[in-house]
Amino acid sequence: MSIENPAPILAGYKALVIGIANEDSIAYGCAQAFRAVGADVAVTYLNEKAKPHVEPLAQALNAAIFAPLDVSQPGELEALFARIEKEWGKLDILVHSIASAKKEDIKGDLLDCSADGFALAMDISVHSLIRMSKLAAPLMKDGGSIFAMTYQGASKVVPNYNVMGPVKAALEASCRYLAYELGPQGIRVHPISPGPLKTRAASGLKDFDQLLNEAAERAPLGELVDIMDVGYTCAYLATPYARRLTGETIYIDGGVNIMA
Ligand SMILES: NC(=O)c1ccc[n+]([C@@H]2O[C@H](COP(=O)([O-])OP(=O)(O)OC[C@H]3O[C@@H](n4cnc5c(N)ncnc54)[C@H](O)[C@@H]3O)[C@@H](O)[C@H]2O)c1
Repeated sequence: MSIENPAPILAGYKALVIGIANEDSIAYGCAQAFRAVGADVAVTYLNEKAKPHVEPLAQALNAAIFAPLDVSQPGELEALFARIEKEWGKLDILVHSIASAKKEDIKGDLLDCSADGFALAMDISVHSLIRMSKLAAPLMKDGGSIFAMTYQGASKVVPNYNVMGPVKAALEASCRYLAYELGPQGIRVHPISPGPLKTRAASGLKDFDQLLNEAAERAPLGELVDIMDVGYTCAYLATPYARRLTGETIYIDGGVNIMA
């Protein structure tokens, strides 16, 4: 079966996608898949330096809203959600596809991670999800879906993943608690765990190419995933066909996680 010309299963849906840096970004795969199945998208860019890289992608997506967002800047999230409320009056899908940590913490052992560095990584990569979920929930009047990108290093030790291991463990646990708290409003929360993908964020990890090669070798399906695989899975999860799924981590990795 081909996934070319997919059916418009998300026609009328409004999706906010946070985390596009360039055309390799997982968030760009999500936004492209949502558009391909009929949703309208809002996309953000980190700052003025990032804007020229993201703007052509926003145009290619025909994004209805294109706005700045640095989650560490007070007021920016609030301004973004105020704009969404004004222009759309509702929201169906939120994608959190962002993470950050100090260079020395990404490259160094967890034992050497400073309290400041740990707090910064947790704030940008985890607490930002809690802040945006709180702002998104009142706009998800007919229920909705929230996605957060995690990695297998949350539950298993992946050499060189360092501080991001505990950070992603906290992200997955936060998704479970948010799923519990938002479930009564029909809002589902999905931690999404893609296999390794060659993106800018991944380029900060030591020996990342080795991780890619190992994943390709170990995957029962025999291939690495691409950003559209992630996007189309999220698109499916946003439909009522997945209406009884929430909180559990969904691996999109060709089966790597089932291997010993
Ligand atoms: N690439 C992989 O192999 C892989 C695998 C599993 C999970 N992930 C996760 O996927 C997510 C997206 O990463 P990616 O691989 O697409 O890389 P990417 O570099 O394309 O995306 C990371 C995004 O985070 C954004 N960001 C960083 N700090 C921010 C801040 N303060 N405010 C707002 N945005 C900020 C960047 O602008 C960028 O758009 C991350 O959470 C990452 O940990 C990546």
